[in-house]
Amino acid sequence: MAKVSPSLLSADFANLGRDVKDISSLGADFFHIDVMDGSFVPNITIGPGVIKSIRKLTAVPFITHLMIDHPERMVESFAAAGSDFITVHVEAKGDVDEAIKRIRQSGKKVGIALNPPTSFSKIERYLPIVDIILVMTVNPGWAGQKFIPEAAKKIAEARKVIDEEELSTLIEVDGGINQDTGKVCVEHGVDILAAGSYIFGAPDRKTAIESLKRL
Ligand code: DX5
Ligand code: ZN
Repeated sequence: MAKVSPSLLSADFANLGRDVKDISSLGADFFHIDVMDGSFVPNITIGPGVIKSIRKLTAVPFITHLMIDHPERMVESFAAAGSDFITVHVEAKGDVDEAIKRIRQSGKKVGIALNPPTSFSKIERYLPIVDIILVMTVNPGWAGQKFIPEAAKKIAEARKVIDEEELSTLIEVDGGINQDTGKVCVEHGVDILAAGSYIFGAPDRKTAIESLKRL
């Protein structure tokens, strides 16, 4: 069964605390928290201060998805704010290896993300040293975009290596996930489905979360 990580980017930011508590009570396995810097992606979202505030509201683990350049400068702040996993992009400007080292030194779990145009070979060397790989199935920047099926094929590539090498690395997918696209990802061997608009836009969020867990 896949685990489900609702993406707070689709929450109502005027009622963020309410949405965090609500989703926590509906069986979310993680929260997926999207951080954008206006440089790595052309949009800006939230920083460590917001994460610190919502950390008090839930025991559900936080997977912080850093869509930022120079992640090595910021990872300690996101660790201190209460992230459980911190994911950095392989394409980010700056020192990704140093960022990974600092996440580990902060005692947090590490993720490495790759964008749709980036080939799996660019992250393969990280598989033994990270806890999660994050396969993007949209170009990052906004919620509500259309799933890119070709990008999802990298889930199968990662699954093969992880199984062959008996690694415990988890595979998360992010972007355009709903019941149909989530099923494709589960068939490719995904462990965690991040989903924003599908869950927050659903008439019944509990049913939406359960429908993904059942895939
Ligand atoms: C996109 C973000 C995603 C986004 C997913 O840049 O990284 O996490 O919130 O939203 P949906 O599920 O609506 O594509
Ligand atoms: Zn994300």
